[in-house]
Amino acid sequence: MATLELQNLHVSLEDGTEIVKGVDLKVASGEVHAIMGPNGSGKSTLAYAIAGHPAYEITDGKILLDGRDMTEAEADERAQAGLFLAFQYPHAIPGVTVTNFLRQAINAVRKARNGGVEDPIPVPEFRKTFLAQMDRLKVSRELASRYLNDGFSGGEKKRVEILQMAMLEPKIAVLDETDSGLDIDALKVVAGGVKALVGPDMGALVITHYQRILNYIEPDFVHVFVGGRIVEEGGPELAGKLEASGYEEWETDPEGVPA
Ligand SMILES: Nc1ncnc2c1ncn2[C@@H]1O[C@H](COP(=O)(O)OP(=O)(O)OP(=O)(O)O)[C@@H](O)[C@H]1O
Ligand SMILES: [Mg+2]
Repeated sequence: MATLELQNLHVSLEDGTEIVKGVDLKVASGEVHAIMGPNGSGKSTLAYAIAGHPAYEITDGKILLDGRDMTEAEADERAQAGLFLAFQYPHAIPGVTVTNFLRQAINAVRKARNGGVEDPIPVPEFRKTFLAQMDRLKVSRELASRYLNDGFSGGEKKRVEILQMAMLEPKIAVLDETDSGLDIDALKVVAGGVKALVGPDMGALVITHYQRILNYIEPDFVHVFVGGRIVEEGGPELAGKLEASGYEEWETDPEGVPA
């Protein structure tokens, strides 16, 4: 079983502004956690800090993956240890095709798991898994041969991210607004992909503004995130309540501390 644990996590921007102000959260394999909160509350900042983005400084607290302290680890080390982040705004990588990007990413993970010794995935094995996952996630072969995210539509980017996740088999996946900009069919494909992957070997932390994706993914826990803090936690019913009443009851206090 895998666990990602955040202990009293504080995150600041490069100019010293504190955005995430003490988050405690534990995500285990088999579980789907949803984080919902207003614009600018620090959700993406939290996701970047978990992934190890150098622009986001962890000033206090800890990130543990399976009990191993990852707080100071570089982004690639975290990825190799089994963390995966699907970005809200994925970057294009001109010159690198989806297929080659994925093969390199998989081989980097395999190398790390093999004690630093190269252990490239055999080409037939890669091909077989890749084709099967592309079919499952309805990613066209044409898209796979193009440069990563270069000129991809919003929906295509999101599907390819889920394809990356399916191929990399992370222990814990953090999905930052993977649902934004998806049409209803793409939303079902993406949600179905996440749902199919969450199980004994993977847990997910889904950041979203809308209950819509949660109707398909069905979170076990919902965390309300306001002003850099988790201000309320509950089950899936909490997402429905937020959809109806918004975040007003927490936002009246500028510090985001519930009354
Ligand atoms: N790299 C950065 N440089 C400057 N300000 C930043 C940076 N990253 C985040 N911020 C600021 O930190 C605050 C939190 O931003 P963040 O993107 O984490 O919010 P969010 O909860 O993900 O919002 P949204 O729901 O709109 O995606 C915002 O005020 C934002 O402008
Ligand atoms: Mg965001």
